[in-house]
Amino acid sequence: MKTLFDKTKLKNFEFKNRFIRSATHEGFAEKDGSMTDALINMYEGVAKGSISTIITGFAFVMPGEPSSPGMLGAYDDRFIEGFKKLTDTVHKYNANIILQVAEGGTQAKFNVKKRTIYGPSAVEHKYINITPIEMTQNDIKKHVNAFGDAALRAKKGGFDGVQIHGAHGYLLSQFLTPYYNRRNDKYADSIENRARIIFEVYENMREKVGDDYPIFIKINCSDFMGDEGLTPKESRFVCKKLDEMGIDLIEISGNVGFNTTQPEIIQTNINTDKSKQCYFSEYARIIAEEVGAPVAVVGGNRNLKLMSEILNNSNIEYFSLCRSVLCEADLINKWQENPEYEPKCLSCNKCWSLKGNVCIFNRK
Ligand SMILES: Cc1cc2nc3c(=O)[nH]c(=O)nc-3n(C[C@H](O)[C@H](O)[C@H](O)COP(=O)(O)O)c2cc1C
Repeated sequence: MKTLFDKTKLKNFEFKNRFIRSATHEGFAEKDGSMTDALINMYEGVAKGSISTIITGFAFVMPGEPSSPGMLGAYDDRFIEGFKKLTDTVHKYNANIILQVAEGGTQAKFNVKKRTIYGPSAVEHKYINITPIEMTQNDIKKHVNAFGDAALRAKKGGFDGVQIHGAHGYLLSQFLTPYYNRRNDKYADSIENRARIIFEVYENMREKVGDDYPIFIKINCSDFMGDEGLTPKESRFVCKKLDEMGIDLIEISGNVGFNTTQPEIIQTNINTDKSKQCYFSEYARIIAEEVGAPVAVVGGNRNLKLMSEILNNSNIEYFSLCRSVLCEADLINKWQENPEYEPKCLSCNKCWSLKGNVCIFNRK
């Protein structure tokens, strides 16, 4: 029988348990994306809490393009020193730390009038009043290259790996979404073409970081938009292809940011109803059967017994947590002491704030 506290191995690092802190944008970086003591202190708190692997909040890979204030930057070598401070701190607690890299595209809430916002096509965001500039193939090349360079910086900065943010309606995710991707070139139409930019990002990174360095991806199992969005079948295709290419871990999500009409997006008030927890696990279960790479699932993981059942009845290997760890950085310690412990997180989504994302229970 597998347990949530099993030690497992992936390339050059060990997971001391099966819990991953899913990427959580904090909003505590400097304006240009530089590291701050506030960020390092926050991550130190999470590392102390015994989670095996921390994925950072999304870091932007092109200069001048943070989609949220206080977003970490990964677009310049000058950030490597700050990365080292962070990774050295986290490693003291025998935890792994992975840099998540992203481009926001139209899913931006900050400085939107003062910068160029790119998208696969010039289609206004469904819920945010922004129409991007359609990327030329040269723009795509620049972005792909920037993702690869950011991965190399992560490696130089002591991160244990890098995660491509291919989920939640940000730039790479929008390429997968027919509603936003109406191009007429090799990046459009079939799922193989819509995912091409992600495959190119992966290849560019791999070339720069080498075969031994872990590269993860976070991806939607579906956009939950019918034919206008990425379908479960298409998501499975992308996962299988990335698996063949050598991706090291696939984290299954499904939230399409800012759409409050979909029940499948970040769920609220799930604590009292276990049927609403682990809400992408059925999708992740199918993907985990089809790929060789380990699969992690994120979204509403709040109950140890339920996660343990899923672990033992599927090929899902890891469970990612965001809001519950934002609420209680020491949640894993508490679960280790008492498997019945019920997390305090209310899944209320009030952690989001343009002044820095902090759980309502931890606000001063
Ligand atoms: C405050 C906040 C910030 C987030 N930032 C990121 C991010 O930077 N990258 C990402 O992939 N997902 C991000 N997410 C989504 C979470 O990683 C996760 O997929 C989602 O919250 C569902 O998991 P949970 O039920 O454990 O919270 C964020 C979510 C919240 C609430």
